[in-house]
Amino acid sequence: YFVGIDIGTTSVKIIAINENGEIVKSVSKEYPISFPKPLWSEQNPEDWWEQCIVGLNELLDDLDKSKVKAISFSGQMHGMVTLDENDKTIRPAILWNDQRTEKECEYLNNVVGQSKISSWTGNLALPGFTAPKVLWLKENEPENFKAVKKIMLPKDYIAYKMSGIFATDMSDASGTLYLDVKNRKWSLEMLEVLGVSESQLPKLLESYEVVANIKSDLAAELGLRDDVKIVIGGGDQAVAAVGGAVVKPGSCSLSLGTSGVVFTSNEQFFVDENNSLHSFCHANGKYHLMGVTLAAAASLKWWIETIIKTENYEELLKEAKEAEVDDNVFYLPYLMGERTPHNDPNCRGTFIGLNMIHERKHMTRAVLEGVAFSLRDTFEIIKEMGIAIDSISINGGGARSELWCEIIADVLNVTVNKLNTNDGPAYGAAILATVGFGLFNTVEEACSKYINITDSIAPNAKNAEIYNKKYDKFRKIYPATKELFK
Ligand code: XUL
Repeated sequence: YFVGIDIGTTSVKIIAINENGEIVKSVSKEYPISFPKPLWSEQNPEDWWEQCIVGLNELLDDLDKSKVKAISFSGQMHGMVTLDENDKTIRPAILWNDQRTEKECEYLNNVVGQSKISSWTGNLALPGFTAPKVLWLKENEPENFKAVKKIMLPKDYIAYKMSGIFATDMSDASGTLYLDVKNRKWSLEMLEVLGVSESQLPKLLESYEVVANIKSDLAAELGLRDDVKIVIGGGDQAVAAVGGAVVKPGSCSLSLGTSGVVFTSNEQFFVDENNSLHSFCHANGKYHLMGVTLAAAASLKWWIETIIKTENYEELLKEAKEAEVDDNVFYLPYLMGERTPHNDPNCRGTFIGLNMIHERKHMTRAVLEGVAFSLRDTFEIIKEMGIAIDSISINGGGARSELWCEIIADVLNVTVNKLNTNDGPAYGAAILATVGFGLFNTVEEACSKYINITDSIAPNAKNAEIYNKKYDKFRKIYPATKELFK
């Protein structure tokens, strides 16, 4: 068996697959998240570890433990875990969705300068990234900053506990903003800006590389062989892309989770001129670009559960299918501000274009379309960079709606594929374990053996044309209204 562990924001999900790539068992264990002040978001790394062990014991309970060969990871990205000289956590981890670092980002982008930061790292500073969190610690908790001997990312903490080796991988390290993404090494310039030395940072590996064998005392505790390989794994977006076979040049996935992500896998390193896209290392040893719309399925959930006050998604979506495609009601999905393309934490969600003929079916449809238009914003930037995309694979909870998949196909004017796997990051982690163990030579080889297309939705040419015109109007709404919410 090969085990994939995904350290998510609400829970740890653990799956075991066999050599044919079939899932034999999966478990999930929740842990708390705390918001001690407005904009703050923290978790205790010990909680991840505790639940990981509870979950692993449950997973292994009715499996033949001697058959477990390798374990790998996926993790929520960007979170800052700090350890002291005794390897104790200094303070709770500051997570990816923590927004306390606006000041530090302004310093990095405007005082140090976005062009310098981008030339060192391939990206610009966003509040979620790790580097501004390090600056925040230095400024606001100097005693804690002085005590830091190790800085690591969430899944690296678990890999460290399991292997005893302080390591990370390129895909997750890309989200720190102190990795030189292009050259796959720490950026010494950024480390100087942060006041951090390379000795405080983990060893860099590719996501499919073996860190070490499992620690023997842990192997004994779990009942595993002591030659089980610990494979470092990667950041959840890159590993989910592995789980969806988005590993070939130009292959592309679209994730309709709470947030929405357009992700493309590339052979070379690319940066767009405004740094609108994240330009990161991929988990297959290459590169990727991604754009994020923050409220994707979250928009639909808000509309149906908070505004309409029902849980009956089916009825609302059935209604929306009957609304006209060429109607001119627009929804801007910026309920939580926006990353791509506006990078504007203050922008707001909007309905625009209503008159007396409109019913809720038009507004539900507008929500689905607005998210699709926002994802097209990322898709357009990718296309402008000369990256050709002829189909995309779709995943995440929102992909369960047939209508939403059709709207995406029409708005992007591209074929949308569904796959035999929808287990994203945990499945991708299990694949990385197979590659690290040596069952396959490359991530690509493993993906082509395990993952295939089960359904394809082609765009409807007439709708695609209508949406093309509608998208032109959609693009004009944000610039015309943004000043209202400064
Ligand atoms: C990626 C990102 C999220 C987190 C949490 O940039 O912020 O995907 O990794 O899952």
